[in-house]
Amino acid sequence: MNDDLDPGAILNDIWSRLTAGQKHRAHPFYLPAVAITGIDGAPTVRTVVLRAVEQEARLLSSQTDRRSPKCAALRSNPSAVWLFYDPPVRLQIRIKSVATIHTDDSIADAAWAAVPTTNQLNYLGELSPGTVIPMVYRSPTQWRAVGRENFAVVNCLVNEIDWLMIHPEGHRRLRITYDRGAVLSEWLVP
Ligand SMILES: Cc1cc2nc3c(=O)[nH]c(=O)nc-3n(C[C@H](O)[C@H](O)[C@H](O)COP(=O)(O)O)c2cc1C
Repeated sequence: MNDDLDPGAILNDIWSRLTAGQKHRAHPFYLPAVAITGIDGAPTVRTVVLRAVEQEARLLSSQTDRRSPKCAALRSNPSAVWLFYDPPVRLQIRIKSVATIHTDDSIADAAWAAVPTTNQLNYLGELSPGTVIPMVYRSPTQWRAVGRENFAVVNCLVNEIDWLMIHPEGHRRLRITYDRGAVLSEWLVP
């Protein structure tokens, strides 16, 4: 079978694109959208920075303010779906995952140590993200150690990948499912 239609090769290509997305700010996969179920049961979605990718561990990771409503929502329902789109190749990748929030452990400590000081300022606000305020927000400009308390890593274990390539010779869609130790792949009607 042609290499570009081999499910194993496609899976490796997916992970190498994710890895490239995490490393390069200009890559379209650097800024995926992540959808979760809000506390009220309605879907919610937002852009995040893809902060870590590990194929072996099936890990996708982002970072956020622990006071953000999405942390409470994920504790209630940890399902998270990631959406990646690469315009030049017209490739859509949707990834179902289960999220774990890390705030007070070595995972959060190590990630915080790698956050540039300028980005640490994002975690210094006195009010929770989403709080209504009487005038436009002004970011803190002076670094204080307190930012660490508000920092959270959201690690997501990948369970299923839906790969769709819009292709001149016919669109192609593959579903890859991690089933305990096995990796299953199925072609789908696009
Ligand atoms: C370019 C860009 C990158 C962003 N990266 C993150 C991020 O890594 N983590 C995060 O929590 N929010 C990030 N945001 C903000 C979210 O999209 C969202 O507006 C915010 O988290 C509050 O919404 P929520 O509480 O519903 O998630 C980013 C927004 C943009 C436009």
